[in-house]
Amino acid sequence: MPDVAGLSALEILDSRGRPTVQATMRLASGAVATVSVPSGASTGKAEAHERRDGDPGRYGGLGCRHAVNAIETEIFDAIQGRQLESQHAIDELMIELDGTAEKSRLGANALLAVSLAFARATAAERGVPLYQHFAELAGLDAPAALPRPTVNLFSGGKHAGGQMEIQDVLIVANGASTVDEAMAMTYAVFQAAAALIRQRYGMRLLVADEGGLAPDFSSIDEAFQLAVEAIDVAGFRPGDDVSLCVDVASSHFFAGGRYAIGGESLTPAEMIALVRSWVDRYPLVSVEDGLSEDDWDNWLALRTALDGRALTLGDDFLTTNPSRIERAVAAGAANALLLKVNQIGTLTEAAQALHLARGAEWAVVVSARSGETEDDWLADLATGWRGDALKVGSITRSERLAKWNRLLAIEKETALPLTPWPRRAP
Ligand code: PGA
Ligand code: ZN
Repeated sequence: MPDVAGLSALEILDSRGRPTVQATMRLASGAVATVSVPSGASTGKAEAHERRDGDPGRYGGLGCRHAVNAIETEIFDAIQGRQLESQHAIDELMIELDGTAEKSRLGANALLAVSLAFARATAAERGVPLYQHFAELAGLDAPAALPRPTVNLFSGGKHAGGQMEIQDVLIVANGASTVDEAMAMTYAVFQAAAALIRQRYGMRLLVADEGGLAPDFSSIDEAFQLAVEAIDVAGFRPGDDVSLCVDVASSHFFAGGRYAIGGESLTPAEMIALVRSWVDRYPLVSVEDGLSEDDWDNWLALRTALDGRALTLGDDFLTTNPSRIERAVAAGAANALLLKVNQIGTLTEAAQALHLARGAEWAVVVSARSGETEDDWLADLATGWRGDALKVGSITRSERLAKWNRLLAIEKETALPLTPWPRRAP
């Protein structure tokens, strides 16, 4: 039974140069593990709260010294010397210690760092790969397949210069049969897109927060058209070999019941019609946050409009929050969960979210954040938790590559097949 003998934390910087939290845990057995937690920019309102220092004179108030201090004092005092028989035990203990619904007192960034450090240290103590330990702590069998990469090609919204309202146009190599093949196909499409962008926009390969290309598109259609062209130029068949996904991230341009997009102000019904027209015209297989997190009444109509063609994927809408997922399942409001553990703050609660989604036969896409670190635990989590897909951003920027490279290593170690893209029956 793991027994925590030491716990320290450090304020480090994420891929945007903003502070985040790293924790190092030592078990009495001698096993040691360090983890770093990510941080979003295009956040959902219902997300667990990161604890930030609020001192405007230091990192614009974004410092994490209080969260670091909470780990080293209050959390360590509560867990040291206790026989923690499971991940559930340590997570429940921290949730109770925090005592708030949003984890705002100690901070979700502090809790998640400890939750993950415990998982990694326990895996080391047991001598099992992290993906296998993640599977077991969620009550799952050993993974039978690897998550399929969905890779950011173009960035907009809050992750780029706001040149288009939608946040990501992604590619998924649905024709690939291994991660290795998927990455090579992705590279070919990315390079083709970069060459087209150089010709059309005179822009060299400069990338946005998640490593995507972000030229000055004059319309959203131009971005989709260029993505299809890049797939074609790279020698693949759009839709058969390589398809598209979109993260509309529409909560960020929704106000007063309307969507401000493409110079227009759309009603929810018009927004659904716009999204549907994209799916009709482009090889789109997944639509994330096609409606706002506050537009609950219209998600069923969105899902119905997309059914059988593209996944209706909820990110800000669901925030990996079991009660929001339960409500969405009951309402038929989605059929896929974007799973980000820092939206909820502990592995135990994220596993509950996973089980609710799976119980409803939803697809699950395990996702990084826009503010990431060089840590690679996410690839193990996506594998162990049997994600249909892994969303990490692009294939540039090392905080992204840490995860893709870990997935390549897991593939070599396990020789597992790649999960087929979860197409929905009409
Ligand atoms: P975030 O965005 O990490 O900035 O919140 C990622 C996403 O919307 O998927
Ligand atoms: Zn999103």
